[in-house]
Amino acid sequence: MSTVPAPEPAPSTTLPDDATIAALRALATELATEAGRLVREGRPDRVEVAATKSSAVDPVTAMDRASEELLRERIAAARPHDAILGEEGSDVPGTSGLTWIVDPIDGTVNYLYGVASYAVSVAVVAGPPDPSRWTALAGAVHSVVDGRTWSAARAQGATCDGRPLRVNEPATLSACLVGTGFGYAARVRAHQAQVLTHVLPQVRDIRRLGSAAIDLCLLAEGRLDLYYERGLNPWDLAAGALVAAEAGATVTGLRGEPAGTTMAVAGAAPRVAELARLLEEAGADGPEGDL
Ligand code: IPD
Ligand code: CA
Repeated sequence: MSTVPAPEPAPSTTLPDDATIAALRALATELATEAGRLVREGRPDRVEVAATKSSAVDPVTAMDRASEELLRERIAAARPHDAILGEEGSDVPGTSGLTWIVDPIDGTVNYLYGVASYAVSVAVVAGPPDPSRWTALAGAVHSVVDGRTWSAARAQGATCDGRPLRVNEPATLSACLVGTGFGYAARVRAHQAQVLTHVLPQVRDIRRLGSAAIDLCLLAEGRLDLYYERGLNPWDLAAGALVAAEAGATVTGLRGEPAGTTMAVAGAAPRVAELARLLEEAGADGPEGDL
C-alpha cells in the first residue's frame, strides 16, 4: 500500500516479518500516547523557553527534554538492541539495524503559546536514519490536546484511533487545501515566502498549522489535500510520512528524488505531480533556501 518512492534497503538488511512490524506499531502507539499524557498533564499555565536551537525563534522547553527522556528510557527498556535518534539530542547506537526516530513535541511553538496543534511523534525505521534512504516500518503520532492517535505500519495501512484512513483526491490543483510550514532561519523563510507567492494563487488555500507530523496525519484523513515543506528533519517526517503513505498518499521530493530535507510533497499522486512541477518551476529546492 505504501507509495513512498524510497529505495529498498540494501540486500543485507532483512526487514522484520509482518507480525513483528505490527508489534512495533503497537509499541510506537503506546509510547507516543504515554509521552503525550506527560506533555498534556505537565503543561504549566505559563511555559518558559529553556533554550533556543537553530535561531532565536526555535525554542526548546523543559517538556521537550522530559518527553524525550521518557521515550528514550522506554525504548531502551523494550528494544535494547535498537538505535534511537531524537530531536533533543538522543543518539543511541544499536546493533539490530532498526532506529527509533522520535520528536518529543512536534509543534513546540504551539506548545509554548497554548495553540492546539502539537504532538508526540514516534517511528521505527530500517536502514540509515535518513528519510531518503530508510524504510519506515511503523509509526504513531499522538495529538496532545485532543488525544487522537494516528498510526501506521508498512503495508498494513493507517488508522486514527482504529479508524482506517484514506487521502482525498480532488479533481484539480485549484481545488486543493494545502498545508505547509516554514523553517526557523530568516533567510530560509524569505525564500519559502517567495515560493509561496507561486503556490497560493494556484490552490484553494494554504494552512500553516505548526506541526509537520500532524499536518501529514491530517492529510492522511482528508482534512488537507496536499502538503509540502522544505527543511524538515527526520523526526518531523518519520511517523507522519508513513501514516500519509499508508493512507494512499504519494510522498516524494522534487525532480524524482525521494522525500527528505530538501523537499517533502505529499498527497494523491496526480495532484502531487502538479504541485511538484509548480514547486520546481518556483525554484523551491534552489540554493537560496539552504540553511
Ligand atoms: C517544527 C514543526 C513545524 C515545521 C518546522 C518544524 P518543532 O517542528 O513541525 O510545523 O514547519 O519545520 O521544525 O520544531 O516544533 O519540533
Ligand atoms: Ca519537530
